Amino acid sequence: MVDELTIAMPKGRIFGEALALFRQTNLTIPEEFSEDSRKLTISLPHIGLSFFLVKPIDVPTYVEYGVADLGVVGKDVLLEEDRDVYELLDLKISPCRLSVAGKPDWLVPLYPRVATKYPRIAKNYFKKQGQQVEVIRLSGSIELAPIVGLADRIVDIVSTGRTLEENGLVELEVIGSITSRLIANRASYRMKAERITSLCDQLQQVIKEGARV
Ligand code: PRP
Repeated sequence: MVDELTIAMPKGRIFGEALALFRQTNLTIPEEFSEDSRKLTISLPHIGLSFFLVKPIDVPTYVEYGVADLGVVGKDVLLEEDRDVYELLDLKISPCRLSVAGKPDWLVPLYPRVATKYPRIAKNYFKKQGQQVEVIRLSGSIELAPIVGLADRIVDIVSTGRTLEENGLVELEVIGSITSRLIANRASYRMKAERITSLCDQLQQVIKEGARV
C-alpha cells in the first residue's frame, strides 16, 4: 500500500508555481484544485495526497508538528522560523531577494529603527554588521514604514522591485537570495521514506527539465 502524504501549501505568490511543479510530476491533480476556493483542505485519495492551504509563515509549524508530512515554503520563512524540520529540496521557484531598503539619501540615525516581517533575520543581520538597531515587527505593507516615518530602514522581500520603486524607496543591501523549498517532518521522512523519496525524485526531474528549457 502506498503511504498517504499530506502537504502544506503556502497561499499567495508561491502557490501557483508550486502547484504547477506538482502537476508536472506523474501525479494527476484535478484542474479544479486552485487557491481561489475557500476550502482549506483538499483531499485527493486517488493519488494518496492531501493538501492544506495555509499562510506561508505557518507552513513550517504544520510540518514540525507532523500534521503535514511535507510543506512548500520560502527560504525566508525557514530562516525566520527556525523550525525543527528537514529541508529536502530547493524547488527553485519564486526567486527573490531579502534586502535592506529605505529612502534614498535618508540620514540614518546612530540607532536606526528597522521595520520588517522578519525580526529574527533582521536582528541577526544587523548584529553581524555590528550595527545596533531597533527592530519593529509589522505583518505587511512594510514599504509604508519609511514613508510615514515609522522606520529608517526596512528588511523585506524584493522580487520585481516594483513595490520599492512605486513608493520611492531603493534597495540598499542584499541579505540573501531566496527560493522556495520542500520541507519534511522528521518522523514522516523516516516512516514514509519510499513515497517521499519518490516524490522528491520526480520533482527534481521536473526542476532539472525546467532549468534546461
Ligand atoms: C511582498 C514584499 C514586498 C513585495 C515585493 O509583499 O513584502 O512588499 O512583495 O515584491 P516586488 O518587488 O515584486 O514589488 P506581499 O505582496 O507578499 O504582501 P505584503 O505587503 O502583505 O507583505
